[in-house]
Amino acid sequence: MQKQGENPSRLVFVVYPFQGHINPMLQLATAFHTKGYSITIIHPEFNSPNPSNHPPFTFVSIPDRLLQSNVSLAPGDFLTRIFVLNKNCAAPLKQCLERMLDDDDGKHSVEHVAGVIYDCFMYFVQFVADDLGLPGFSMRPVAAAWLLVSVIPHTEQESVFESQIPELQPLELTSMAKNPTDAATEMRAAMLNATERSSGVILNTMEFLEYAALSTIREYWPAPLFATGPFHKLAPSSASSLLQEDARCISWLDHQAPRSIIYVSFGSIAGLSKQDVVEMAWGLAESKQPFLWVIRHGSVLGTTELLLPDGFRERVGDRGLIVEWAPQQEVLAHDAVGGFWTHCGWNSTLESVSQGVPMLCRPCFGDQFLNMRYICYVWKIGLRLENVLDRGNVEDGIRTLMVNIQGEEMRHRAMEFKAKTELCLREGGSSSSSLDEFTKLISSV
Ligand code: UDX
Repeated sequence: MQKQGENPSRLVFVVYPFQGHINPMLQLATAFHTKGYSITIIHPEFNSPNPSNHPPFTFVSIPDRLLQSNVSLAPGDFLTRIFVLNKNCAAPLKQCLERMLDDDDGKHSVEHVAGVIYDCFMYFVQFVADDLGLPGFSMRPVAAAWLLVSVIPHTEQESVFESQIPELQPLELTSMAKNPTDAATEMRAAMLNATERSSGVILNTMEFLEYAALSTIREYWPAPLFATGPFHKLAPSSASSLLQEDARCISWLDHQAPRSIIYVSFGSIAGLSKQDVVEMAWGLAESKQPFLWVIRHGSVLGTTELLLPDGFRERVGDRGLIVEWAPQQEVLAHDAVGGFWTHCGWNSTLESVSQGVPMLCRPCFGDQFLNMRYICYVWKIGLRLENVLDRGNVEDGIRTLMVNIQGEEMRHRAMEFKAKTELCLREGGSSSSSLDEFTKLISSV
């Protein structure tokens, strides 16, 4: 908390412009706003957040020339997007911060800029902050274990995973780590270099969730590391959806029995094939379980139409609601929701964990495989679905997750995770204390 009589301080947040990164950044900014900081959000023009959802913040847009660079928005091309943003945004960010600092010295403002918190994918920010003599802090919106891949030398990774977190060891991640492309190696080196120069790293995770990974990183790496998640629970924050949330979801859920609904959503990037949609639809229909299913416009590969199989709508009637985008945090917090079929994006994972909702896991790419291993094999609050979707497996998975006796212990453990999350967030809890420590660090550098 800023003390009375002190000059008010401003924190600058630099966003990586994709939904799974915008949400945690704005949630973190909200937490700092409740601690008394003024907030400036600097974001690329592409995927601009809506300022009217966050009236207390100042939003500044910087040119990114992402679309002019003909970069594909497909998940597999994310490295190219990162390189383009890091290259194109550096000069505009510097000008923008210089203007703010000029104000600092001059007449317009009595505030000083206390630091710049940036998404770890926007690693160029650290170098701009260094040039201007501002403290930079890296924000990681993914699991701490994902950082292990960057911090630990490749040759040691397998044995470290095996000895520290054996359940994560057989993960697809190790093969990615062993055979990185040149571009992946370059990006990882740049990100690590920036993070090492930073004044601290703030992670959207909790000590109890990732104790082994956090301890291992701390052994290898002296940089101050703060596990202060889940960010969406630090302070009540407004929605930061880039897509319009369908308002029917909550009123529909209000009419459903407690813990009866399976919520289905694969986040903001992952795509589905037409055949996936058919198998999912029949699996949901045959499970007899009511469902709320998000199918983003354009997320079915090769078509912009929503092609559901003939007879499906008649079969499920009003037992199912399909929308293009949902107010996910509210949905997962609703009493009617008893299970989440997810692609295991880290935000979705934390949003589910914090509400005690067990998960049916179908990771699609990158860190989602690591998150799935945590959910199913370390925390044991979810089930894995095979990647090739089959309606019979879907039906069985949903019934085990939601109603069958085999899922009883998993459902119970999921509720225990909700209680543990609440403890982390209470005064004196690990996340709340870590946020206080991080705040002290900001005021001290
Ligand atoms: C991306 C990566 O894919 C993910 O693996 C990484 O961990 C973070 O960045 P994304 O795939 O979009 O994110 O998944 P996720 O991390 O779950 O973030 C999606 C966000 O969109 C969540 O905060 C979720 O609440 C929100 N959402 C999703 C909605 O608000 N409504 C929806 O209908 C679906």
